[in-house]
Amino acid sequence: MTLLDMLPSIGRAAPRRLNPAIWPVTTHSDEQGRLCIGDVPLSDIADEFHTPTYVIDETDFRSRARCYRKTLRGVEIIYAGKSLLTTAVARWASEEGLGVDVCSSGELAVALAGGVRPARIVMHGNAKSPEELREAVHAGVGRIVLDSCIEIAYLAGCARKSQPVLIRVTPDGPTWQDVPGHRAITTGISDQKFGLTLHGDRADVAAQRVLAHPILDLVGLHCHIGSQVTDAAPYGEAIRRMIAAMADIRARHGVILTELNIGGGHAIPYVPGDRELDIDDLAVVLEDALDEACAAEHFPRPTLVVEPGRAISGRAGVTLYRVCSVKKQPGGRTFVAVDGGMSDNPRVLLYGAQYTVTLANRHSVGPKQRVTVAGRHCEAGDEIARDIELPVDLHPGDLLAVACTGAYHHSMASNYNMVCRPPLVAVKDGRARQLVRRETVADLLARDCG
Ligand code: LLP
Repeated sequence: MTLLDMLPSIGRAAPRRLNPAIWPVTTHSDEQGRLCIGDVPLSDIADEFHTPTYVIDETDFRSRARCYRKTLRGVEIIYAGKSLLTTAVARWASEEGLGVDVCSSGELAVALAGGVRPARIVMHGNAKSPEELREAVHAGVGRIVLDSCIEIAYLAGCARKSQPVLIRVTPDGPTWQDVPGHRAITTGISDQKFGLTLHGDRADVAAQRVLAHPILDLVGLHCHIGSQVTDAAPYGEAIRRMIAAMADIRARHGVILTELNIGGGHAIPYVPGDRELDIDDLAVVLEDALDEACAAEHFPRPTLVVEPGRAISGRAGVTLYRVCSVKKQPGGRTFVAVDGGMSDNPRVLLYGAQYTVTLANRHSVGPKQRVTVAGRHCEAGDEIARDIELPVDLHPGDLLAVACTGAYHHSMASNYNMVCRPPLVAVKDGRARQLVRRETVADLLARDCG
């Protein structure tokens, strides 16, 4: 029994401080000191669905989607499904007036099963197979973004009616070569696998080939400058370069492209002090850049499209873990081992990502200690958070919540060590609803052909 159990009033006297920029919009502490999201105590979710579990706040997701539509008026918003996609999530996005971008047959099937209108689906991928292109054409997806010349031939071979396409290009440029974050997620530059370069005429050659196939309808250009972009200015620079490229295509081929898709990559904060991309700033930068670039090139204003993923799904999600052990290594760190790790959150190892963690089943008002939250996998680097403050009285059985795990967690989970992938549970108005069930050992064995 803790002091708080005996004297619940102290929990009220010292309310938890949870950073609203990081935790889902509906997060609060109840009178028992339990962390609640969507009016559901997280400890109830852990009891019912066990741990680890991904929890997603439907209200947070929908309000971010709504905020995009309200702030970026006249801009088409396509939700990047790679960040988090289930049939329910696809439905939320389309009910909020967003299209959905997909980059595999699997994501396409989920978006369609979630009721997204095919015309609102954008198909991406740097290595689409002829089969995937056929499925996209068959489904009637609204836009296919071409990433290489071979795709042009594949697509021309399977399209049965006019198929709108965009060409993905790399605008390159000093302003975003140094976008903070891991190089693995910086994509708007030439020396990486995505898109066709604007310089060296690669994009122009692709445009010429597309135009040679009357069944392919070249409607515009696409670019994606990277991930976790905190400053709006690089998007303005991208627009200027892209409009110049569209003007070049007009000059060389006599066609006017009417759509400019500038991808996603809008940053969110994971720990206090992290910067986020300000959507109000973005609105101003996009508007000004478009006006200026179109005036400079005497080019008619195209429809602008953005593809945020993380900025819509990231903060809606938290991951719940049970503490398995607390171990102070003599002369070393104190390790809090939990029942998940790199299989449900590979981002720490991949990108050195940092996370905000809190005790979720009770409110501890005692002193704090500096700990490393470690995973359960057979890998020394399997950590969730390093050098963070958690209560000294933390013990096995306690519940931890990790913030900002809505994007690229469920979608990047693995079965390392034959660990089953967690369920995804949506919360809203006091109700918890499983969107994806926990994987079972039977699921794992079902794929093993013996
Ligand atoms: N559009 C395109 C064409 C993309 O490639 C991406 C992300 C997005 C939109 C959405 O980006 P967002 O707004 O979510 O940043 N696994 C990495 C992120 C890789 C993103 C790849 N492309 C991570 O966990 O940070």
